[in-house]
Amino acid sequence: MKLSALLICIICSLLITASRAGDDTNNNNSSAPFAVDIPAYLLPIDGLDFDYYMKTCPGMEGIIANKVKELIAKDYTYGASLIRLYFHDCAVRGCDASILLDQPETSEKYAGPSKTLRGFEFINEIKAELEKQCPQTVSCADILSAVVRDATTAIGGPYWQVKYGRKDGRISRSEEAEAIPMGRESITDLIQYFQSMGLSPVDLVILLGAHTIGYSSCASIRYRLYNYQGPGNCDPTIDPQYTNFLTRYCQDPTKKVQLDPTTPTIFDSVYYQNIQKNMGLLEVEQKLFVDSRTAPLVKALANQPDLFYMQFRAAMVKLSKTLVLTKDEGEVRLNCSAVN
Ligand code: HEM
Repeated sequence: MKLSALLICIICSLLITASRAGDDTNNNNSSAPFAVDIPAYLLPIDGLDFDYYMKTCPGMEGIIANKVKELIAKDYTYGASLIRLYFHDCAVRGCDASILLDQPETSEKYAGPSKTLRGFEFINEIKAELEKQCPQTVSCADILSAVVRDATTAIGGPYWQVKYGRKDGRISRSEEAEAIPMGRESITDLIQYFQSMGLSPVDLVILLGAHTIGYSSCASIRYRLYNYQGPGNCDPTIDPQYTNFLTRYCQDPTKKVQLDPTTPTIFDSVYYQNIQKNMGLLEVEQKLFVDSRTAPLVKALANQPDLFYMQFRAAMVKLSKTLVLTKDEGEVRLNCSAVN
């Protein structure tokens, strides 16, 4: 067997093991016959449960699912925006809805990387509805977790079960959100950033697959087109035809450009094939295929849509457990944009 094929086989089996591990529904470590070091993210979080709202707000998932369905039917592009909103929430102080706090100039929402986030009003709308049905019960962090799962499924991505019981944070600082990656970083920077969230390099490559849908503002990538390491230069690693399109299209920095240039509205693993063809919109995506720590994974995912689907689901479950607050570590906000 060729070395590359062998490498891909090894990666696939590692991914499948990780996927089973990250799956809340199949997790059955208690039957392991010998002692193993269980990664922290696999340990059950005290205070989170699938049935958390069963008695206090049994209709909560239905209300959220209907609202998300309506929104996506009206405007499909919100699917991607809500997924990104969740990443930005979980990346800073964990999945505690800190991104939703609206404290002009000082909260995360006002940081540079948050500029093009969307979906805040939609979350507030759902919260208002839930406050009518089950007052002071469902946290904004849990609402966001359910919304993102439903939005992912509504646009053709995988479904996963969500454990609830997250509490809302009281702190949100814009300077902390300034560190959220925007595409100009090195792979080492990204691996370290993800490690600080309790996520692995495998999670990084898989979660970046969310860029199979959605948009970037041209402003975020113009430096690659007109001023790359010197005035008038464009990034020579971009496919020439794609460069040609981008340099013409992105003359107006306020325009939005699809992150996946070939199948922009389909939740699939073609995103990784684009990267192999030097058609990654963000510089760091292109680096994924050059760096020896991530390139074999890109290769494995590029041609295995099912593997991507399954792994994305597992990685989102893992993301949803990032540094969550439970019990009296936080509150249930009455309004998602303000602390109580
Ligand atoms: C780890 C490194 C990441 C980098 C460098 C990155 C960078 C970016 C950038 C620059 C944009 C476009 C922003 C704009 O100009 O409007 C974007 C959009 C997006 N990102 Fe990421 N991202 C990362 C990780 C993630 C993760 C982990 C997820 C989700 C799990 C995600 C989901 C999305 C989605 C869905 C969009 C499209 C949003 C829309 O259409 O409104 N990203 N990202």
